[in-house]
Amino acid sequence: MFLNLLLLLVSFVSIAISYEKPGACSGACNVHDPAVICRTSDGTYFRFSTGNKIQIATSSSLSGPWTNKGSVLPSGSEINLAGNKDLWAPDVTKVGDTYYLYYSVSTFGSQESAIGVATSTTMEAGTWTDCGSTGVTSSAGSAYNAIDGNVVLAGDGSYYMSFGSFWGDIYSVPMGNPPLTSSGGSPKRIAYNSTGSHAIEGAFVWYRSPYYYLFFSSGVCCGYDSSRPAQGMEYRINVCRSTSANSGYVDKKGIACTSSGGSTVLASHGNVYGPGGQGIFLDPVAGGEILYYHYVDTKIGYGDGQKRFGWNLISWGTGWPVV
Ligand SMILES: *[C@@H]1O[C@H](CO)[C@@H](O)[C@H](O)[C@H]1NC(C)=O
Repeated sequence: MFLNLLLLLVSFVSIAISYEKPGACSGACNVHDPAVICRTSDGTYFRFSTGNKIQIATSSSLSGPWTNKGSVLPSGSEINLAGNKDLWAPDVTKVGDTYYLYYSVSTFGSQESAIGVATSTTMEAGTWTDCGSTGVTSSAGSAYNAIDGNVVLAGDGSYYMSFGSFWGDIYSVPMGNPPLTSSGGSPKRIAYNSTGSHAIEGAFVWYRSPYYYLFFSSGVCCGYDSSRPAQGMEYRINVCRSTSANSGYVDKKGIACTSSGGSTVLASHGNVYGPGGQGIFLDPVAGGEILYYHYVDTKIGYGDGQKRFGWNLISWGTGWPVV
C-alpha cells in the first residue's frame, strides 16, 4: 500500500515536471542548428542556420514572420577541406562593432574538420568577409572533432571557444582578442560522456555571473524518419555549470560534466521531439535570456529537413535554467 502510494507520488511528480511549449514562429521556421542575435542598431533579429552555406533569416520579432535572406558565404569557405561548400552549425557573437560568425567545415562522421570565422558589421547578406580558419582544427586520430564552435567572453575579458562532438566530446580553447584565432593554448576537455557513443555535441557556454553555463545536445540528432532511437535517447538539451569558463563544470547533482554528468533542461514533450542544436541570447524585448533550438514537430514530420525553430524564455530561479 505504502509502496503503491509512493509510486503514485513519483509518477505524479514526473508528470508535474513539464516544459513550456516552444514560442510562436511564423514565416521561415524550418531550421537546423540555429544561431540568433538581435542587431543592436535597429532591433532586427538575425537567425543563422546550417544549409545554404549558412542561411540568413531576419525578422522584426522573435516569433516572426521570419524571411530568408541568402547566405553568409555564398561561394563557400576558403578553408581547404572537404565540406567547404557545405558549412554547418553557425554561432554568432558581437565584439565591439563587429559580428563574428563561426562555422564548421567537415563531412559527416569525419574528423577532418576546422572551425572558420566570418565578420560583418551589419550581418546582411553580401557583407560577410571570410577570415578562414580559427586554427581550431582536427584530423584523424585527434582527441576531438573541431566542429560546433561557440565563443564566450569571460568575466576577465578573455575569450574561450568551446567546440567538439563525439570522439572526446567537448573541449575549450582560449581565443585571441579579437576572437579570430585560437591563442594557441592546447584545448582542454570540459564535457565527456564515457558511455555509449559519446554522443555529446553543439556546446554553448553562456556567462551569467558568477556561473558559466555549459549547454550541450546529448543523444541521437538525426535521421529520425528512417530509424528512431530508444525512447529518451533522442536529442535533448543538458547543462552543467562552473565558476570557471574552461574547467570544473558539474551538473545539479554535482557530477562532473567530464564524468558523464549533465542535467536536462529540455527534452521531448507533447509534440516536441528531439530538441537540440541550441544557443542562448539576451533578448532586449523579453528582457531576459532566450533558449533557442531546433526540434521535430511530430505533427509535421521527423525528417532532418523538417526541423522547426523553437525558443523559450529562460527562468533562473534556483541558479539553474528552466524553460
Ligand atoms: C550518456 O550516455 C548514455 C548512453 O548513451 C545516456 O544514457 C546518458 O543519458 C548520457 N548522459 C548525459 C548526461 O547525457
